[in-house]
Amino acid sequence: MNSILTAKNVSVHIKDHQIISNVSLKIERGKVYSIIGPNGSGKTTMLRALSRNIKPTSGSVSLNGQNIFHMPSKQIAREMAVLTQTHSNMNDVSVRQLISYGRFAHRDWWKGKDPQDKHIIDECIAKTGMKQFENRRISTLSGGERQRAWIAMALAQKPQILILDEPTTFLDISHQLEVLELVSRLNEEEGITILMVLHDINHAARYSDELIVICEGEKYASGEPWEILTSQVFMDVFRVEAVITSDLHNDKPIFYAKSVAGKHEVKK
Ligand SMILES: Nc1ncnc2c1ncn2[C@@H]1O[C@H](COP(=O)(O)OP(=O)(O)OP(=O)(O)O)[C@@H](O)[C@H]1O
Ligand SMILES: [Mg+2]
Repeated sequence: MNSILTAKNVSVHIKDHQIISNVSLKIERGKVYSIIGPNGSGKTTMLRALSRNIKPTSGSVSLNGQNIFHMPSKQIAREMAVLTQTHSNMNDVSVRQLISYGRFAHRDWWKGKDPQDKHIIDECIAKTGMKQFENRRISTLSGGERQRAWIAMALAQKPQILILDEPTTFLDISHQLEVLELVSRLNEEEGITILMVLHDINHAARYSDELIVICEGEKYASGEPWEILTSQVFMDVFRVEAVITSDLHNDKPIFYAKSVAGKHEVKK
């Protein structure tokens, strides 16, 4: 089966407001996808629907061919790991402890700790470069280190798909790249499918096989970065006049915004 996660005509209403309208998506195994779109367009809500954190008003979501609402939570956690925009309050635990929580989905309550767990936790610490921080409390880490600790926890779930909501927010440029390189490595080396929300469109184009554009709760377009990033999309979706060119280093599209639609270009 090529597609790992699919949404069919998903709509979400919250208190009489239609937040998501009839969105269908097909996430193929082994690829990297980024959802882009303006603030408030419904990106987080869509991720919540895809990860069973919110029930669509209509439509369906399936994970590996099974309706996600008919699957036990533990099975979902063994197939899918989700890092939300705001992490829950885990500041007092150590990095190693946090990562060990990722193993819960694989544990049976009557058996206790699996000897394999230690090995897997060590592996996740090594893969995310967290060895020197393993005994530090989460509250003492910098934003970039903290994000890597959470990614390590997600990795300990041994998921087939990793969903991340704005994993680079609040990080400086070198830490943004560090997180995106890590995610990219997990895709290439471990074959984990990646679905993330990114606000930085140039980063989304550089690190993704496909982009999904969400605008006012609808899927505006999806496809390869060169197909999607046109001046028309920037105008329609982000209300900016944009110039799109080619990144000399990797042939991916790269853009800069010239002006806000309807306003004159800023002149010195
Ligand atoms: N629980 C809720 N109750 C009421 N409105 C909600 C709720 N959750 C989301 N919304 C509304 O749905 C819309 C979409 O929100 P969502 O968080 O999905 O947007 P987003 O695209 O992720 O935005 P951002 O880029 O700012 O993170 C917003 O107008 C938001 O106020
Ligand atoms: Mg959001």
